[in-house]
Parts: sequence; C-alpha cells; structure tokens
Amino acid sequence: MKGFIKSISNNIDIDLISGSTVATLRCNSPKLIRVFLMSLNNAQISPDETFKAMGSLRLNPSLEQQNVVFRAFADSVRTSILRVLESGSFGVLELSRLLDIRQSALSHHLKTLAVAGLVAKRREGNSIFYRRAFLREDDPYVEFKRAAFNCIDSLQMDEAHRGRLDVLEHERSELSLNFFKKNAEKFAKNQELIVERSQYSPILEELISSLNLPSDSTVVEIGPGEGFLLVKLAQVFNQVIGIDNSAEMLSKAKESVSDANLDNVAFIHGDANQQSISRAKVNLVVMDMVLHHLPSPANIFGSVADMLNPLGYFLAVDLAQHDQGWVCKSCGDLWLGFDEVELENWAVLAGLEPLQSVNLALKNGFQVQISLFRLGL
Ligand SMILES: C[S@@+](CC[C@H](N)C(=O)[O-])C[C@H]1O[C@@H](n2cnc3c(N)ncnc32)[C@H](O)[C@@H]1O
Repeated sequence: MKGFIKSISNNIDIDLISGSTVATLRCNSPKLIRVFLMSLNNAQISPDETFKAMGSLRLNPSLEQQNVVFRAFADSVRTSILRVLESGSFGVLELSRLLDIRQSALSHHLKTLAVAGLVAKRREGNSIFYRRAFLREDDPYVEFKRAAFNCIDSLQMDEAHRGRLDVLEHERSELSLNFFKKNAEKFAKNQELIVERSQYSPILEELISSLNLPSDSTVVEIGPGEGFLLVKLAQVFNQVIGIDNSAEMLSKAKESVSDANLDNVAFIHGDANQQSISRAKVNLVVMDMVLHHLPSPANIFGSVADMLNPLGYFLAVDLAQHDQGWVCKSCGDLWLGFDEVELENWAVLAGLEPLQSVNLALKNGFQVQISLFRLGL
C-alpha cells in the first residue's frame, strides 16, 4: 500500500500514516477492510488522498459502524418502525399495537435502530417514548441516513398501520380535549401551578414588538385558552384569528375579547392541525403553552408553515424539558416540555428557520423557553 499502512494487528487495528498523521481503522471484519484497502490500492491512491478519501467516505471511526447502520435498514420490520416514527414519538406499547408486533421482538428491533443512531428515546413520566433520531451534520453517515429516511418516507404507509395510527392520535387528542372540557373553569389556577403568566409575558410582548410587523398584519394564535394574549394581539394588529379545539376554552377567549371591546378577532373552533387558512396570508403565528398538549407536536410545525406567508414568523412558547410527571394528571400535559434542539429539528423539517431561543429561569423547577422561527422565501 505504498508505505502508508503503518501496522496491522490481528486484522483488527490498521494504522495508516501520512506525514506526521496517524489514523487507525478499527474493524473486526477483515473482509470489509480488505475491500476498502484494495479499492484504494486499485485506484492508485496516494497517502494524502487516502486520508482525504477516508474523510469523504467518513470511515472514521470504523467500518464496523458502517455494518451496524446498513444492517439496521436492511429489515422490513425496522423500516416499518422508522416509517411510523416519522409521525411522532411513541411508547413501546403503542408501537407494538400500531405495528402488531410482540413487545419482545419490537424491543430487539428498537435496540438495533438505536445502536445505529436511527432512533432516540426519552422518558416522559413513567414511560419511555421512541422517536426518529435527529441527524447530526457531523454524523459520518448523515447523507446515507438522510437518503434512506427520504426513501422510506416516500413509501405509502401500510394501510393497517395508518388506520391504527389515526385511532391512536384521536385517543391522544381526546385526552387533551377532555381535560380542557372538564377544567375550563379552574384552568388558570392549574396553569399557575406550573408558571405564572406575569413571569414571561412582558418578554413575549417585547419580542413580538421587536418583529416590527405592520399593524395591518394578520396574526393567528393557536390555543388562546382564556384569551389573555389574544386581547394583547388584537390591540396591536388589525386582524387576529384564534383557533382552539375546545369549545369551552374558545368561549372564554370570546368573553375576554368582548370585555376588551375588540371586534377584530375571528374565532375558529377546531384542531389547529386541520385548518386550511390559506398560505400567503398570515404574518405571525403564536402558540403559547400549547405544544405540550398536542398528540403529535412535530406535526404542528408543518401546519404552521402552511399558514404563513413567505418570511412569516412562528413564535412558540413552551416549557423546557422537565421531569415533573405530575403535570400530566393535574394540567392535562401530554409531553414533559421540549428540548430546544428537538424544536429546531422539527422546524427545519417543516421549512422553518430557527432564529432565536430564549430560556427564562422560573420558580418551581420549570423553565419557559420562547423560540422564534421564520418561514423561508
Ligand atoms: C395550556 S392552554 C394555553 C392557553 C393560553 N395560550 C395560555 O397560555 O394561557 C392550551 C390551549 O390549547 C388548546 N389546544 C390544545 N390542543 C389544541 C389543538 N390541537 N388545536 C387547537 N387548540 C388546542 C386548549 O384547548 C387550550 O385552550
């Protein structure tokens, strides 16, 4: 190999040397590494170019990992799991029901996918939820994984899986809907257990004002609840739309707007994911403490992107990830807050550019994060 293999020990570690640089390929598959080295040799590649080739093939740290990634995709059950996970995060029991697979077999497949960096898990109270891993740009296999995900997503989801997924999403949204139906009267009190509005609303209003949107902008608030922010928005912008899927909460919002003598607010009763507010109309969508109540929070980013005009803004206020499971029962939360990177990844997948994220320290161990995104041109 033109003197650039420094040493080969037990067919496991191969040290390559170029100038003063030494790189080690670690692989327990002598066959694979032989193929790689032969391909370099056949192509008469010089030591320097070999290092470049290693970089472009991104074979560091090992060919072994390459096997792990390829093997993970090479199974129809695992590709079905990845296809379903495109729609959100699910617990093992949910996935087992969705795909009609025994839990033990499912756990085995999930482990294979996790080792290959294709799924990630996260604890929500007493349950573990799995989702697609976000691809990191410094992942040696990022391009391959992205292409494989695109390929899997272009396939029609199995009809039985689709049907069960719809049922599951419906059950989740019923949970949230029933909570607000039963608790509309004591909602504000429950909410204060987590966070007091006065602790973050001045910053939120300042951020909205810093966007310098003209007063004839159209602004949508998803999940206005009792309508506190809706009133503030209607005092600044000519046309405001409030969308809420709870009739009880929507009538509270209407009351607040009417008490403030405002007549520039339109109300839509329905799920924010199923609205067809036409594109090229909305300049700003705001969602304040709603994301953690949505059955599939990732999906709302696509729905918001559909509402926005080019360069329109999306402002999401929610809790940073926490571990206080009691809020699920007391406050109807479906998710225990969100990681900033998680939100950014969902946004990017929907064509929204993350602009800034502010974390506000609060009492009770909860932290509010305000994240601003913008639709591309
Ligand atoms: C925790 S409250 C927040 C209310 C208000 N934004 C605030 O900060 O006080 C969540 C609100 O979102 C509404 N909501 C939940 N899921 C929704 C959905 N899929 N579409 C529209 N509204 C939804 C609830 O009915 C409720 O009014």
